[in-house]
Amino acid sequence: MLLRVENATMSFDGFIAINDVNLTVEKGQMACIIGPNGAGKSTMFNLITGHLTPTEGRVFFHDEDITGLAPHTICQKGMGRSFQRTNIFPRLSVFENVQVAVLAHARKSFNFFTPAKDLVQEETYALLGDVGLVDEAHSISGTLSYGFQKQLEMAITLASEPEILLLDEPTAGMSPQETTSTIELVERIAQERDLTLLFTEHDMDVVFSVADKITVFHQGAVLAEGKPEDVRDNPDVQRIYLGEAA
Ligand SMILES: Nc1ncnc2c1ncn2[C@@H]1O[C@H](COP(=O)(O)OP(=O)(O)OP(=O)(O)O)[C@@H](O)[C@H]1O
Ligand SMILES: [Mg+2]
Repeated sequence: MLLRVENATMSFDGFIAINDVNLTVEKGQMACIIGPNGAGKSTMFNLITGHLTPTEGRVFFHDEDITGLAPHTICQKGMGRSFQRTNIFPRLSVFENVQVAVLAHARKSFNFFTPAKDLVQEETYALLGDVGLVDEAHSISGTLSYGFQKQLEMAITLASEPEILLLDEPTAGMSPQETTSTIELVERIAQERDLTLLFTEHDMDVVFSVADKITVFHQGAVLAEGKPEDVRDNPDVQRIYLGEAA
């Protein structure tokens, strides 16, 4: 099993945001967590990526116990994550943002005689090509459209060469066109790079077109889990979630 969360509980000063949750993701899976606002989806992501340490329970990646490790340590092990808010340096160019990420991952030592712009040129352009941003390489990142910023964020995340990609609401705030192109991008990159995906999403069209396994969270616990069609037909799910969205 690539990722395994065992009996995770997260309490914030007595408020139980995650209540004894088990979750597994197999290599190659397109796994999605859905649930109403406040169900605990982002908290679950934070427990997996090390941004929070569970009050109880363990997290395993490749059968290694990663509970309590720092986010950058977990990232180095092959877990990539994008945030609901972007982590782009707005004053740097698109190229520079990706270059910084490539350098951070490669930990290439700076040579005083090599201008910084020549470092890791090839890798940086390859990543820009992957996400369709070569033409924007010299644009200042802060001036990019929202859709382009998301593509840039994807390139930054991919620079760490992840094996699993965690995407927390990748299409939040996007127009229908941006949503479609973002999802096409995610699916293409996942396939090309043989990536496993764990994502959250409120757009049910996206969920049902991408996911091959859905876990439904409700009030910090798993309400249902399974193949998309089974989850869709589950009366509990329809009541708490799909019904609400209708
Ligand atoms: N740092 C925190 N301190 C206290 N309570 C928190 C903290 N983070 C999250 N919570 C609470 O935990 C619950 C779960 O929040 P979480 O952000 O995980 O939900 P979510 O499923 O991601 O919701 P959304 O769909 O709105 O993104 C909420 O009630 C939230 O207020
Ligand atoms: Mg959330």
